Amino acid sequence: MSMDRFEMKIAVYPGSFDPVTNGHLDIIHRSAKVFDKLIVAVLNNSSKNPLFTIEERTELLKQVTKDLPNVEIDNFRDLLINYMKQKNAHLIVRGLRAVSDFEYELQMASTNRKLDESFETFFMTSTPQYSYLSSSIVKEIARFHGPVTDLVPEVVEKALRTKYPKG
Ligand code: PNS
Repeated sequence: MSMDRFEMKIAVYPGSFDPVTNGHLDIIHRSAKVFDKLIVAVLNNSSKNPLFTIEERTELLKQVTKDLPNVEIDNFRDLLINYMKQKNAHLIVRGLRAVSDFEYELQMASTNRKLDESFETFFMTSTPQYSYLSSSIVKEIARFHGPVTDLVPEVVEKALRTKYPKG
């Protein structure tokens, strides 16, 4: 019998998580059931200008996943592939909301695979009720003090209020 059968299936779910939404949380819950261990890694996306610091984003993720025993939260200020190598992980999870996500996701998955062909990216389709949801949309609503109650966990809602205080 191959030893592979006993290897822990460690997956990394990378993203900006600026901030974590209920859509991300749905992907985290569902993929934590599929893999033995899930590492949610907060990374910087150089094409985005973040609202929350990498430490704040990490802390919010820790708070909203504390009931999930096989989920670990981490951050990294470098290329995803270097993080994967450091953790000896080969599986990447990304959420797919709509066809519009596909081109960018395919480019990332193909690039990561080109950089190291041992990496495999798994796509999990979002639950339909979250298919329109994004951190950018949440920030846009929060900036104008609109309701984000059903879109993000309560701690995130509070954190957004701190970033965009009324009056
Ligand atoms: O949530 P996002 O912004 O869609 O996540 C994108 C992210 C952070 C996973 C991506 O930008 C990334 O991997 N950044 C780290 C730097 C890197 O490895 N870039 C090359 C990716 S092909």
